Amino acid sequence: MSELILLKLGGSVITDKTKPFTARMDVIERLAQEIGNAFRERGSDLQLIIGHGSGSFGHEVAAKYQTHKGAVSAESWLGFAEVAHAAAELNHLVVKALRQVGVPAMRFQPSASTRTRGEQLMYFETFPLKEALKNGLVPVVYGDVSVDAAQGMSIVSTEVLFDNLARELTPSRIILAGQVDGVYEADPTTNPDAEIIEDIDRGNWEEVEAVLGGSHGTDVTGGMFTKVRDMYRLTLAMPPMQAMIMSAEEPGNLEAVLKGQMVSFGTLIN
Ligand code: IPE
Repeated sequence: MSELILLKLGGSVITDKTKPFTARMDVIERLAQEIGNAFRERGSDLQLIIGHGSGSFGHEVAAKYQTHKGAVSAESWLGFAEVAHAAAELNHLVVKALRQVGVPAMRFQPSASTRTRGEQLMYFETFPLKEALKNGLVPVVYGDVSVDAAQGMSIVSTEVLFDNLARELTPSRIILAGQVDGVYEADPTTNPDAEIIEDIDRGNWEEVEAVLGGSHGTDVTGGMFTKVRDMYRLTLAMPPMQAMIMSAEEPGNLEAVLKGQMVSFGTLIN
């Protein structure tokens, strides 16, 4: 039976977060190559759904219009369309790079198929995506805007979409490839000796939670706590699914992980 992987390319790795609307094309093209290599090598043994963040595209505009807070001003709906446009522009670059290396990628625009309530995803039309996947295509979703039943509009992150897709499709692995090497045992910016936690499971979860949720850690990891906690809960709910948090900066790492090789980097949550 083929393996299904949900792969997120973090907004921090595919865009330059310090420059609005700046894609790191060299990185996007390299990652597309790595995905293409794994996809070709594994053939029908690998099914892939890719998601990506918005980095300096959607986040900038979303902050300007406060989209995550809902329809808060006369400009909000204009902002809704602008954020959607920014997110889709980056998506176009990602899908194009994937297609150029032979990955049969196809965009599935989340804002056209989701509905949230108070930022919680309550509806996600996945039928077309599942049909595409079944027929050998690689669906690509991304952090986007969503119509929201409570506040008019909100933002859906790739992780939220993945949570929903994972529960429907039971992948064997979720890979979050970003800029950080994994989950650190302490804040590496103030504690240079801090090491990566290789495994997170029932055995050390309480310890990890205390470190990440404490006064340190939270910022370093830029919202890493919520991400790790949500992935931990999801893996608990869906054994034997595993989640991995890794850096996509080091060439070859993503390819190795997608090929299912034993690796000695990143943090594995199971
Ligand atoms: C953010 O999506 C979406 C928008 C701001 C439009 P994600 O949460 O998936 O993206 P990153 O990885 O933080 O950029």
